[in-house]
Amino acid sequence: MSGSATPTPMTSHRCGPLSGIADVPGDKSISHRSLILGAMAVGETRISGLLEGEDVLDTAKAMQAFGAKVTNHGDGHWSVHGVGVGGFAEPDNVIDCGNSGTGVRLIMGAMATCPISVTFTGDASLNKRPMARVTDPLALFGAQSVGRSGGRLPMTIVGAADPVPVRYEVPVPSAQVKSAVLLAGLNAPGKTVVVEQEATRDHSERMLAGFGAEITVEDTDEGRVITLTGRPELKPQVIEVPRDPSSAAFPVCAALIVPGSDVLVPGIGLNPTRAGLFTTLRDMGADLTYENERIEGGEPVADLRARYSPNMKGFVVPPERAASMIDEYPILSVVAAHASGQTMMAGVKELRVKESDRIDAMAVGLRACGVTVDEAEDWWAVTGLGPEGVPGGAICESHLDHRIAMSFMVLGMAAQNPVTVDDGSPIATSFPIFTPLMAALGAKLDTQT
Ligand code: S3P
Repeated sequence: MSGSATPTPMTSHRCGPLSGIADVPGDKSISHRSLILGAMAVGETRISGLLEGEDVLDTAKAMQAFGAKVTNHGDGHWSVHGVGVGGFAEPDNVIDCGNSGTGVRLIMGAMATCPISVTFTGDASLNKRPMARVTDPLALFGAQSVGRSGGRLPMTIVGAADPVPVRYEVPVPSAQVKSAVLLAGLNAPGKTVVVEQEATRDHSERMLAGFGAEITVEDTDEGRVITLTGRPELKPQVIEVPRDPSSAAFPVCAALIVPGSDVLVPGIGLNPTRAGLFTTLRDMGADLTYENERIEGGEPVADLRARYSPNMKGFVVPPERAASMIDEYPILSVVAAHASGQTMMAGVKELRVKESDRIDAMAVGLRACGVTVDEAEDWWAVTGLGPEGVPGGAICESHLDHRIAMSFMVLGMAAQNPVTVDDGSPIATSFPIFTPLMAALGAKLDTQT
């Protein structure tokens, strides 16, 4: 069992063709950042298309605890009355970020240069995840932290009363670490510099510029150098959150492996720091086309059309592509099981410290469903069974990880026998409408309550 309070087993049965339009919810990364930056601006930020998943709702509650006024006007329309950079009040109680690594790490960064003391906690998954990757750079600003052994939550951070700016080379490819340092840099006088060797998702940089911060990004021999000038007055924004490519991945991949399918997923951002999965699927021979390509809010966007693709081939995913598809390896492994030949995924040890150890979680479940998976610390390889699909017929553990649960549900749609997850409840953290949306396309999902 995964260990959630009330585990909800879910079963996916082999289904007929999937067809129709899949309107996936707002982008999780941009939703967190909209709330946090809105809370650090002076005045009212208005947001539409906010992802109303549990992770983001926990961030909204946290921003309220820091003194921002957060209002839900219904149907994805929210407003945030910010308190300004450096204006966070000390919360009266523990901040519970639930399942969300992005939420907790970004909020730690945002409060670390304010003279307040905050205790953070999360669910059983989040409380196992490494936080030193964030608290180490935050210490350079002058923030102190005490957590459980191994730098785990629950953890208290005492923000720096007199923060100093920092130059930090991010040692792991992580947008969360980069963003935590940039958010901390907002309330440090002078220039905070972050250097990353591999380009990770760049929503923080783009949104900070949108909120009026002085920020530059340069590609140099030492890496991507991001320079932020501290103590700006952030100006409130009107934000339309684009739809989440990481959620789009599930109906897209389901359509590729379920015979006869043809699904349209409109309005998906193809920011190169996020679109690695779609490039990889096309490299494998997927019938995935970009329709109505356009620019929205400065970002490339397209409607994705995915059709059943019985001729996909195994592929060696370039390791340098990993950051642009880091959340999509679990669902890629399901597609790889339906390709012919082996798919090799290397340079992916970050997968071991996500909501679960995603290599292990997928490898164990895929093997139980009759798929050969080889793995080592930094790579894994799936041997495809071709379009006949996998035997299935297993109960797989989701380990409190939404993307693991959804990946096995997609596997069951094409498997010869039903696939069950012990707990589908984590799906609500990022894709609360997953079950009705997939059912409307033709999926057969049962939830055992
Ligand atoms: C995210 C960054 C990624 C990703 C997560 C969202 C973000 O994590 O896995 O789902 O919004 O910054 P890392 O930055 O730790 O790779």
